[in-house]
Amino acid sequence: MSVQASPRSMAGHNSFPVDEIREMFPAIRKAGDFIFLENAGGAQVPQMVVDAVTNHLIDSNVQRMAKYEHSERVDANLVAARESVAILVNAYRPEEISFGLNATSFIRLVSLGIAKMLKERSEIVVTDMDHDANIATWLALEADGAKIVWWRMREDGTLHTEDLVPLVNERTRLVACTVTAHSIGTIVDVAAVGKIAHAAGAEVFLDSVHFGPHGLIDVQAWDCDYLVCSGYKNFSPHMGFLWGRFDALCRLPTFKEDFIPDVPPYKIEVGTFPYENVAGMDAAVRYLEGIGRRFLPEGTHSRRAALTAAMGAIREYELSLSREMIAALKRQGAVIYGISDEERLKGRVPTICFNIPGVSPQLISAEMGKIGIGIRDGHMFAPRLMKRLGLSMETGAVRVSLVHYNKLEEIARFEKALAEIISGHRK
Ligand SMILES: Cc1ncc(COP(=O)(O)O)c(C=O)c1O
Repeated sequence: MSVQASPRSMAGHNSFPVDEIREMFPAIRKAGDFIFLENAGGAQVPQMVVDAVTNHLIDSNVQRMAKYEHSERVDANLVAARESVAILVNAYRPEEISFGLNATSFIRLVSLGIAKMLKERSEIVVTDMDHDANIATWLALEADGAKIVWWRMREDGTLHTEDLVPLVNERTRLVACTVTAHSIGTIVDVAAVGKIAHAAGAEVFLDSVHFGPHGLIDVQAWDCDYLVCSGYKNFSPHMGFLWGRFDALCRLPTFKEDFIPDVPPYKIEVGTFPYENVAGMDAAVRYLEGIGRRFLPEGTHSRRAALTAAMGAIREYELSLSREMIAALKRQGAVIYGISDEERLKGRVPTICFNIPGVSPQLISAEMGKIGIGIRDGHMFAPRLMKRLGLSMETGAVRVSLVHYNKLEEIARFEKALAEIISGHRK
């Protein structure tokens, strides 16, 4: 079965080929009735990603930049992956992409460089809705003289860009914010963030880790300066990548051995990283393109056009998942954090944090685990957000996080299980 088969018109949730897509994921096939509802912690990978990793390990498991065929293949795989990821994020050039272990280490790498360039612009804006990787990393720069300015989420669970305007001025060095909250699923208007920050001469650092699997990344339209992603949330193995505007990366001081050229990506990618997983990331981009081509008319389309079609269809399908999951949670009396009004669902992805009054999040996730439904409980690495929501770090909330291979039937099974847990355990 190939995702390239049978192009169709744009998908409503009925025409999204979820069953065919699920067939492409060996872990989903093997898991039988198990329901993956913890995709915000990492998504499953399609067979073509497994094949790319395996082939890399068999054909090219050597160091790059030597003069024999295996090593030349590593170099070629890296060139191909850089090109693919550049298309995925709409980079200006492939050299703006650097590969590495994860998003957190890239945020740290950029922040260490920024620390050396604070001077008269020493204010850094962070939000209380972000993953702590994109908060604590910047707070650490207070030791270097940075002043932290908080852009706070409103009670409606969203970051309002008009609240950012008075926080940004000629002293602002950088605005660091998420594209989408990994906890409560809110999408941020990052194009507006780009405009506001640049009008004041500040830079923008975007955490796109959670948005990646749900929508079309576009660094040009968003007019940002840096952006990080974790491949493993994007249907690839464990790895991360950084995009940076070429001139911003050229200016950024980084650690590297003296003889390494002071140009991206080499000045960023020091040391060896998991090349096989980068090959997997390349295949993950091609997987998404394959989905997109199903929704395009017959003919030749650019890779970016295919990705645009894929992410458009995924967004639309996921909207039906958000709608259904939120309706199910409301029926079960859940307190839902963040956007839950039917008419505002486009402002979120199907990553939903909730609590059931009288039943602990830990009990719900443990009981779900026992019956083969994988979800998460706790603080979601978002201590500031938990505080804002009036939740403790110890108990936090329950999170269900869906992606495009989840089905409405799975939501129905989840709701039935939740109802049983509630009736058996409410104090
Ligand atoms: C929004 C967000 N940012 C950053 C991270 C950290 O990513 P990594 O594990 O790749 O360092 C995560 C991980 O869950 C995340 O969800």
